[in-house]
Amino acid sequence: MIEKKQTVLRTEHLKASYILEIQGTQKIVKAVNDVDLQIYENEIYGIAGESGCGKTTLLKTLFNEIVPPLRLVDGKIYYRINYEEVDVTKISPEEKRKLRMEYISYIPQGSMSVFNPVLKIKGAFEDFIGSHIKAQSRAEIFELARKRILELGLPKNILDVYPHQLSGGMRQRVTIALAASLNPRIMIGDEPTTALDVVVQRGVIQMLKDVQKSLKNTIILVTHDMGVHANVADRIGIMYAGKIVEEATTEQIFAQPKHPYTQFLINSLPKFGDKSVRESVPGSPPSLADLPQGCPFHPRCPHVKEICRQQMPDFSHVDSNHRVACWLVGEG
Ligand SMILES: Nc1ncnc2c1ncn2[C@@H]1O[C@H](COP(=O)(O)OP(=O)(O)OP(=O)(O)O)[C@@H](O)[C@H]1O
Ligand code: SF4
Ligand SMILES: [Mg+2]
Repeated sequence: MIEKKQTVLRTEHLKASYILEIQGTQKIVKAVNDVDLQIYENEIYGIAGESGCGKTTLLKTLFNEIVPPLRLVDGKIYYRINYEEVDVTKISPEEKRKLRMEYISYIPQGSMSVFNPVLKIKGAFEDFIGSHIKAQSRAEIFELARKRILELGLPKNILDVYPHQLSGGMRQRVTIALAASLNPRIMIGDEPTTALDVVVQRGVIQMLKDVQKSLKNTIILVTHDMGVHANVADRIGIMYAGKIVEEATTEQIFAQPKHPYTQFLINSLPKFGDKSVRESVPGSPPSLADLPQGCPFHPRCPHVKEICRQQMPDFSHVDSNHRVACWLVGEG
């Protein structure tokens, strides 16, 4: 049971689409399609779902990085700043820049994209920190960087190497150190452990947990790896075709998944000592530019009913932490 916590980020009916012009025809890719989220302070909130379901786009939108061809179609994004909710879709570019890193930071998918290949790691810290705290001298910036690096157990001389000289795991840890450098209230991580071997992955996961514990902040973590979610997340949102279709505590998602899609995700996981063939999700995900009517999972769902083809179900609440959008649960 999760105790009542302060909300740090909230969305209302968030809809964001890529609007593309292809040979005079407009194509609308509904990557975030009516998402209501409430993220609390001092928690790790996991987001899971198949490739292409809109996870990265949702993170970019939560970070308020909505640049063409991505457009905010509808909805609101609130950050809780100085005890007040601020609709950040309405703030100026200058206010937005200030909130980045200080209130909310982003660890993008693929750590190499964070770094300028011709700058040493200290240059990256200088860029990141210096662009946010203008008054700070180089010496102070390096001192802050050194402090953060030592706190997080990274080698001190790492500031003097180039990004390509680091292993993928070490680069990912430096990216986390950078994202944590100004003590943000929220850190967003997009697949920070993907493409790493399991031992290195464990180090990166441990570092994320350590950062969260030491800053007492919030981490929103996207990964398709349910094992990583089991290890770090307090709550999990399951995303399908641009929507959150189930949300619960990590224990509930693994022990009592209610949505058929979540059940497939959990049942496809290997179990120690069980050599039976694991069940994967049948069929393939729908195109976000051409979504089926009703529940978007209906073409793949073994429990599909007539109403599923007509109407998207609302959330039903299994309990105060657990909500599911499926006609099989509650009123649907
Ligand atoms: N810049 C873009 N322009 C047009 N369409 C895009 C763009 N970026 C993503 N998309 C489309 O938006 C949809 C959601 O993509 P997104 O990258 O958010 O998915 P994802 O869940 O993060 O996938 P993955 O697990 O592979 O990282 C996909 O259909 C993708 O093709
Ligand atoms: S609403 Fe219907 S189609 Fe969608 S997951 Fe539930 S049972 Fe399956
Ligand atoms: Mg992605």
